[in-house]
Amino acid sequence: MEQRKLGTQGLTVSAIGLGCMGMSEFYGDADEAESIATIHRAIELGINFFDTSDIYGPFKNEELVGRALKGKRDKVIIATKFGVVRTSDPAVRGLNSSPEYIKQACEGSLKRLGVDCIDLYYQHRVDPNTPIEDTVGALSDMVKEGKIRYIGMSEAGPDTIRRANAVHPVSALQTEYSLWTRDPETEIFKTVQELGIGFVAYSPIGRGFLAGKFKKFEDLAEDDYRRSSPRFQGENFNRNLELVKSINRIALHRGVTPGQLALAWVLQQSHNIVPIPGTTKRKHLEENIKAVEIRFSDSELKELNDIFPMDAAKGTRYPEAMMKILGR
Ligand code: ATR
Repeated sequence: MEQRKLGTQGLTVSAIGLGCMGMSEFYGDADEAESIATIHRAIELGINFFDTSDIYGPFKNEELVGRALKGKRDKVIIATKFGVVRTSDPAVRGLNSSPEYIKQACEGSLKRLGVDCIDLYYQHRVDPNTPIEDTVGALSDMVKEGKIRYIGMSEAGPDTIRRANAVHPVSALQTEYSLWTRDPETEIFKTVQELGIGFVAYSPIGRGFLAGKFKKFEDLAEDDYRRSSPRFQGENFNRNLELVKSINRIALHRGVTPGQLALAWVLQQSHNIVPIPGTTKRKHLEENIKAVEIRFSDSELKELNDIFPMDAAKGTRYPEAMMKILGR
């Protein structure tokens, strides 16, 4: 398995990671035994980078990942996140990145994961009420104490990333990136490149949509979070399905699956990018991992660029309230 560097502090991970969120929440029911088997198969196949957060579940996903990785600590890089606080309204998130809160959150994550150190600890979303210098100052202390190894941020804006990095080197920025979410290509890529920060791409298969997983809105379970995403709603869904048709055509021509095509495109954008496709199934994991071997020719890349300009997708990627907490 190809390895990629995240940042300049020494963090190296497999070129593809595994997003574990869907094993506990948001994407309909998942079978726990199959989810754990998927994590074990990932390690067998050379994936060592596992992604979770305290809010997935909430808390249950860290516990699941902890159970699955028991006895395998030396083989894996565990990434988790703090700073988003659930509220009674599923569409509204509270944010807290105060030093006191982080220290407490970290202790909880360590316990649930069953480890004494978190490899990569991300601020999940920027907290407008806590100066980023205070947050990263506290994280820097935690690195010195050996509670965490590397610092990450998620969906932060360029200025905040710069200010954070001035306090303690940031190793990775995790932000949504895929054929239908190319927003980071403008300001964010420039910023992370200049500062030597790695980029972790979440939802690289467009939450499953780009793999052709859904033909109609009703294919999503009643409690599936994606039902609240404008891209999956009404006329947007049908318009976006046209994009999937183009992916299917090119994938067929190349003899790869649509999901592999979407992942290979992300992988080929830069060696500093590590996609973390989420799956709850060994079958999909085994399919996705093969994307590492796919290379597109210049003409194929151009064709994909033409079909997927910056604003190709119809609808925003999150509901309105959640859009407001991105890129700050
Ligand atoms: P996220 O980062 O938000 O998890 P993603 O990686 O873009 O989003 O996509 C995850 C979704 O794609 C999941 O619903 C996953 O479903 P399974 O758990 O059933 O696999 C789906 N997915 C992942 N790989 C897939 C594949 N190869 N074919 C079809 N669907 C796939």
